[in-house]
Amino acid sequence: MPEFDPYLKENHDRFESDLFEWLRMASIGTDSAYDKEVRQTADWLAKKFTGLGLHTETIETCGHPLVYAESPKIEGAPTVLVYGHYDVQPPDPLELWDSPPFEPTVRDGKVFARGATDDKGQMITHVFGVETFLKTRGALPVQIKFLIEGEEESGGAGLKGFLNGEYDNEIPVQEKIKADIAVISDCSQYAPGKPAITYGLKGITYYQLNLTGPNRDLHSGSFGGTVANPANVLCKMLAALVDDQGRVQIPGFYDSVQELSQREREQFAKLGFSDDEYKQELGLDALAGEAGYTTLERRWARPTFDVNGLWGGYQGEGAKTVLPAKAAAKFSCRLVPNQDPKFVQVSLRKMLEDLCPPGIEMELVAVHGAPGFVLSLDSPYMEAASRAIEKGFGTKPVFVRSGGSIPVVNSFSQVLGIDTLLLGWGQDDDNLHSPNEKFSLEDFHRGIKSSCYLWDEIAKIEV
Ligand code: BES
Ligand code: ZN
Repeated sequence: MPEFDPYLKENHDRFESDLFEWLRMASIGTDSAYDKEVRQTADWLAKKFTGLGLHTETIETCGHPLVYAESPKIEGAPTVLVYGHYDVQPPDPLELWDSPPFEPTVRDGKVFARGATDDKGQMITHVFGVETFLKTRGALPVQIKFLIEGEEESGGAGLKGFLNGEYDNEIPVQEKIKADIAVISDCSQYAPGKPAITYGLKGITYYQLNLTGPNRDLHSGSFGGTVANPANVLCKMLAALVDDQGRVQIPGFYDSVQELSQREREQFAKLGFSDDEYKQELGLDALAGEAGYTTLERRWARPTFDVNGLWGGYQGEGAKTVLPAKAAAKFSCRLVPNQDPKFVQVSLRKMLEDLCPPGIEMELVAVHGAPGFVLSLDSPYMEAASRAIEKGFGTKPVFVRSGGSIPVVNSFSQVLGIDTLLLGWGQDDDNLHSPNEKFSLEDFHRGIKSSCYLWDEIAKIEV
């Protein structure tokens, strides 16, 4: 029997009950009404690390604490930095959940709960992976440093401060979390039964646009046609940002875009993505997006523009003939490698200022931004991860890119000069950030098993 199987088998049910206990804690990082639950979640994790005999610290920040833990340094072997987040997105709209978001419920082999896949369920596989390794073998073959944050879903200010050296004065941060490679499990497999290593993520640049017109809401009959309506103007300005071929119209937006190589296009095509299945899964009769690119190319490697929310005027029942004084929208662009979020911001601001007509005051708030990236495929770490996943899942992983963003990967590259292994155990249809978030329990256990082997495979790499 493979070495880790006895412990994994013996603890199969307990891993699940621990997971459920953790998912029951409502660690909604964006809502201060849940500060107590967030703290409880961090404490639960810190206790787990202490229980494994790891040197553990709860690092206070300007926001929610970081949970940090490390095993002893192994001379001559790599050090691995494992990152994850214990905060979750708000669960609303609650009425769309089939079971309550903080009462983990198993249906059809999947656990449904907020945070199941993003990221509590995925992240904890490495804690159980380390546990299994320690209980089976007695000691780890590499040094592992866990850095788990509580503000990933709300901008990550605490982690940014920590990486800037603001909170721990004893050891400089570069020294404290110095590592040879980072590992993050906060993304997806290619499909069920098709594990993947993600080698590219999109960047992002996020905004709120506030428009103000007359000094109060007006009667649309008495005043309509005489003053600029902020809601009309908002629609016009947003509509100008993308044309009907799906091309973003911000000047210079595509200038630095790293085009897909023929080789990469062929590799994407080999994955056998089905537009029909995708449409069916989303309940659509047609797809949309930038002309000239396949669905996978648009999802993984082309920049996009999306309105994330918009409001203004009357939203209640029935009709109200109002000409609103204000209208606003949240929107963002996903970026691809080589696009500079700062450049996009400057160009976008100028474009919107030019579009904004007299009689409307415009405020553009830049909320956050991070560049996209691709990682090198021929690194010994990629090969090590591939072998570990093959042992954990029983099949070799495919290499994929993704449209999501994990800004901390850029920080690790800048602050520590290291790459990240993005090893996602989730699925794209896990409903992260939506009602009925889920995570396959089979994949949860395969993730734990892959994690056990990962430490061994990484230990083979010479540093
Ligand atoms: N786990 C996601 C990122 C992700 C999602 C990666 C899907 C790959 C596939 C992460 O928690 C997340 O939601 N990130 C945000 C970052 C943003 C707020 C800067 C995102 O992508 O919207
Ligand atoms: Zn998320």
